[in-house]
Amino acid sequence: MIGVFDSGIGGLTVLRELLTLFPAESFLYLGDTARLPYGSKSPETIRKYSEQVMNSLADHKVKAIVIACNSASSQVFEKEWRGIPVLTVIEPGAKKAIELSESKKVGVLGTRATIQSQAYALALQKLDPAVQVEAQACPLFVPLAEEGWTDDPITNLITYRYVQPLLQTGIDTLILGCTHYPLLSNSIARVAGLGVQLIDPGLAVAEELQRQIESNKIEGSKSTERSLQILSTDLSPTMTLWATQILSPHLIQSFEHVDL
Ligand code: DGL
Repeated sequence: MIGVFDSGIGGLTVLRELLTLFPAESFLYLGDTARLPYGSKSPETIRKYSEQVMNSLADHKVKAIVIACNSASSQVFEKEWRGIPVLTVIEPGAKKAIELSESKKVGVLGTRATIQSQAYALALQKLDPAVQVEAQACPLFVPLAEEGWTDDPITNLITYRYVQPLLQTGIDTLILGCTHYPLLSNSIARVAGLGVQLIDPGLAVAEELQRQIESNKIEGSKSTERSLQILSTDLSPTMTLWATQILSPHLIQSFEHVDL
């Protein structure tokens, strides 16, 4: 069973990619909905919450932990937690951007916590010291996505306000550094235009997990039956509705409350 962790429901977009790529794997998703958002909290608090969630997933005996949350990923540097491999979205997302960028000018959108941590900028510059990174915190995007205003004139205006300054710097690649932003990708793509490639780090981490399973760093499932369980620190109707909608047609076996 693979553990997937997010501050709330946004990581379900990452889980969706994982379910498609790994039809034989079982997943345990933990959303810390009682304490979200992480993206407006201090690095110390995000780190403390992330440790608690990783401990809970380790107690459930997962074989790998995928940190879908960008804000949490920006505060977790370990490659293993209690002997369990840990994958964050930062490195795979940065790697993909470096591969695809020709101008070597890369834009990063994220929560305030992710942008202030400079996690993507550091990962990008580690891969290519010559890369120019233009970052923009987009605190209004998460509530817009959660409100379902994914294709809306107001969202388009706000997207324009956030993204236009980055375009003027000549970026040709834009990292959607938050679990919710793939839900706004129509609006972001419209503003960014055809010359800018959007990078979904959720998809990139799913591909990285695939590489690690293929190279036997993480053992692949031998079972033909998969289970899909959702844990949440605050089990609300919104959580169950979102999970059912985002993960459809995959069937969720159980929703359970968990205390950390
Ligand atoms: N999951 C968070 C992230 O990817 C967004 C929501 C939050 O701020 O908790 O950064």
